[in-house]
Amino acid sequence: MTLTKGQLVEVEISSIAFGGKGIGKYEGITCFVDNTMPGDKVTASLTKIKSNFLEAKLVEIISASKERCTPKCKYFGTCGGCQLQFMPYDKQLELKEQQVKDAFERIGKIENVNFSKIIGSENIYYYRNKMEFSFGYDANMKFALGMHLPNRRFDILDLHECHLESEFSAKIVNKTREFFAKKYLPPFKYTNGSGFLKALYVREGKRTNEVMINLVTSDNLPKDSEKIMKEYAEVLSSEDMKDGEKKITSIYWTMIIAKKGVRKTSKEFLLYGNKSLTEKMILENGNEMVFEILPQAFFQVNTFQAEVLYNQVVRMAVNKPQKTIFDLFCGTGTIGLFLAKHAEQVFGIELVEDAVKVARENALKNKVFNIDFFAGDVDNLLKDLKEPPSLIVIDPPRIGITEKTAKLINDFSPHQLIYVSCNPATLARDCAWLIEYGYKIKEVQPVDMFPHTHHIECVALLER
Ligand SMILES: C[S@@+](CC[C@H](N)C(=O)[O-])C[C@H]1O[C@@H](n2cnc3c(N)ncnc32)[C@H](O)[C@@H]1O
Repeated sequence: MTLTKGQLVEVEISSIAFGGKGIGKYEGITCFVDNTMPGDKVTASLTKIKSNFLEAKLVEIISASKERCTPKCKYFGTCGGCQLQFMPYDKQLELKEQQVKDAFERIGKIENVNFSKIIGSENIYYYRNKMEFSFGYDANMKFALGMHLPNRRFDILDLHECHLESEFSAKIVNKTREFFAKKYLPPFKYTNGSGFLKALYVREGKRTNEVMINLVTSDNLPKDSEKIMKEYAEVLSSEDMKDGEKKITSIYWTMIIAKKGVRKTSKEFLLYGNKSLTEKMILENGNEMVFEILPQAFFQVNTFQAEVLYNQVVRMAVNKPQKTIFDLFCGTGTIGLFLAKHAEQVFGIELVEDAVKVARENALKNKVFNIDFFAGDVDNLLKDLKEPPSLIVIDPPRIGITEKTAKLINDFSPHQLIYVSCNPATLARDCAWLIEYGYKIKEVQPVDMFPHTHHIECVALLER
């Protein structure tokens, strides 16, 4: 049988893959189709043909799954941002729970794991505290500010509303577009490095209503760039940009400096307001913690669900008396700070120096004095820590840890490990390494931090 790209095929969807694509069979070959769910029968157009699988774009739903719902967002299907919006939220949670189980079974080859019920997010819209919007041109070559379209790196969806951050953040996007469109400044082009305007980041303190804007440009400075940026800051910080409780408390301009053959650097200019954004989080005992967030620092993007996640870490940690805790990949120190009152001392390690600076400031601000943070690579710095830990918390990026990190962790021989992960596949792989060192998985607790997307966060407790 010869298959060709663009060929229309009929597929019945029976399950969903990591990443959110529906899976069915065409002529016995596995076929992945975007925006579909189990129970859908669809016509799709082939986009990728491999010997053992096919990928196809949804063309028409012949008969829809009984469980489909109408997506709230008018850009659904075009934007690519909230792939699961056509699925009721309880179904999304079921799907994520199953995908975590599949990862442990298929990737980790680990059996009899104690999975706790996934904890859903109370807010399923307007839950993000940070969004990035890109400058460019839309499909009609009109100046645009919004989202990169999936699989088309250079076309921008000109976004006028979005249900992920807040109505206020959409207002900021619309005002920014209006302002720069009038200035006729060119968007940056990744193809040849020309142009100026790159991106707009909007960050919101969900518990403080503070808002930080970060406008990112190239170093191809147009005439009067400084004057224009000052004017932008004046417009955005004016009275008519106030929105109920929310208010813009800082405006940054970040310039990315690119020279041929040299690593990119950046310069930040504070155009208006405060150096950092303040966010608050509530601990399991009702106490508040305050965090100062700088423009480039990592901070969990769903504040309320991050509280749930960190409180799960605390729940697992307090099972045993803790003396010394290591918080690896600690970012701005949030997990360590949540744990500090349950231990004699906590040490955090984080690659980004600025994040470590902020972590220290966060500790002082919250009057937590039994914690310290070190900037550098986990593998390099772990060797320098002498005190044996009772617990090591690991919260790496999506790629997970390396076998070397697993070995270094084992060398300390802590009784407990708590692994916080945003990628079930690498979590399952890494747990399999740790099991080889004699650890047993006591519990895996999935937490949904990102409703309507295929992302899944988990906390795994390992002991020996
Ligand atoms: C998923 S974030 C977790 C941050 C923090 N635990 C939190 O909850 O906000 C992962 C962090 O690991 C840091 N990181 C990445 N590679 C690293 C490495 N090799 N050594 C130390 N930190 C690293 C990143 O900069 C990032 O802050």
